[in-house]
Amino acid sequence: MTTVAFYSGEQLPLEMHKVRIVQKITLQPIERRLEAITDAGNNTFLLKNADIFLDMLTDSGVNAMSDRQQAAMLVADDSYAGSATFTRLENTLQSIFGMPYFLPAHQGRACENLLAQVLVTPGSTVPMNYHFTTTKAHIVMNGGVVEELLTPSGLEVTSTDPFKGNMDVAALRKLATDLGAEKIPFVRMEAGTNLIGGQPFSLANLREVRQACDEFGLLLVLDASLLADNLWFIRTREAGCTQRSIADLTREIADLCDVVYFSARKLGCARGGGLCVRSQELYARLRPLVPLYEGFLTYGGMSIREMEALAVGLEETLDEDMISQGPQFIAYMVDELDRRGIPVITPAGGLGCHLDAKRFLDHIPQELYPAGALASATYLVSGVRGMERGTLSEQREPDGSERLAEMELLRLALPRRVFTLSQIRYAIDRIDWLYQNRRLVGGLRFVEEPEVLRFFYGRLEPVSDWQQELVTAFRRDLGDSL
Ligand code: F0G
Repeated sequence: MTTVAFYSGEQLPLEMHKVRIVQKITLQPIERRLEAITDAGNNTFLLKNADIFLDMLTDSGVNAMSDRQQAAMLVADDSYAGSATFTRLENTLQSIFGMPYFLPAHQGRACENLLAQVLVTPGSTVPMNYHFTTTKAHIVMNGGVVEELLTPSGLEVTSTDPFKGNMDVAALRKLATDLGAEKIPFVRMEAGTNLIGGQPFSLANLREVRQACDEFGLLLVLDASLLADNLWFIRTREAGCTQRSIADLTREIADLCDVVYFSARKLGCARGGGLCVRSQELYARLRPLVPLYEGFLTYGGMSIREMEALAVGLEETLDEDMISQGPQFIAYMVDELDRRGIPVITPAGGLGCHLDAKRFLDHIPQELYPAGALASATYLVSGVRGMERGTLSEQREPDGSERLAEMELLRLALPRRVFTLSQIRYAIDRIDWLYQNRRLVGGLRFVEEPEVLRFFYGRLEPVSDWQQELVTAFRRDLGDSL
């Protein structure tokens, strides 16, 4: 592992790449930002890029590509069937994960659709460390339910547990005993557990999960969308793993699983997805659905150019200098905010920095969407766009009452190799200012509330003129600064 010490003693993440293509971004004045967030119904999904300075909505499909990825796109072998590009991608996946079969799909949720259609039936229960929105939706649509068996520390916002994404294996054994293996079509482990702050599982935990699956004859499926971050944490935090290569760790992880699927919008810094399958029998059941829902078996809905970029991106994921960048920048942001007393999920995970809106805005009741209000306020004071991950992202109960989320988070994703350290420091500075002025922030209420996936399209308004007050305070403290 490369260590670069600074003579000053400062601990800074250092970019192990140089920037050769840039995109201009604009920081609008706060008055324009107020108009923009008002027009967007206080929903950051509805903002336009022209009004956004640092887009931290997601890392999905917006990670920086390498020069080698871009170059590979120029030599793509475009054809509907049998392209050399597919063979290259298939070979790369086989050599990294060691599984004989690969099925391409247009993105991660498409893999989830195929798996759920083939494996989940009414009455099924799918145990997992924690759900992801699209995963759960596909399981539920096919008549199944999700059982979350996250280790208890996983939901503690502040913790020192390095592996908060671990599964409680005793709980898995109990569930399998109570339900019977025939009710459990597969066990799902999610790498870099998204909704609890990009938190990893340990290799030791995965080995134990495998052991329990073997005892009950259960299939083990890995969602590897955020595997790169998880690998980095295993490599740097887990006893017995710090001397091992990323390739070697990846292979052991895959060897413990029966299916590995991924969103290539995250893993491999491209756009697409796919499933790697060990069993010929399962492959044969999944295969007919690919041409039906995705595209022919040698592209699965992906652009051939993206497939070339993906093959190279996956190889680059085995490079420590590459996969360390995200986690190191996130750790810098998390630690700096934490040092200033600003509530964040600790320890730092992958994917992004997660502000704890429950504590940041502890005067706002969950019914008035503190995480949504924090997303709106953060954009207003900084032009930084984050994603609400709290009660707004939940669906109401059938009786119309709110289902209050376990965590109220504002996720500030750091797409890999996209932002510079000064941009991160700018974001920290503005969040710090907001924290000092947090009492000015008020709640939000719906003016338009879609029934399904309301967080994507819903429109909200502030419950008072708190946003105007924030603008006034900003001008008082920061003068005519953007
Ligand atoms: N699994 C995980 C763990 C994910 O984080 C995502 C997407 C998916 C599956 C679905 O993949 O988007 O390619 O269909 N996460 C994105 C995000 C949307 O913003 O966190 P997809």
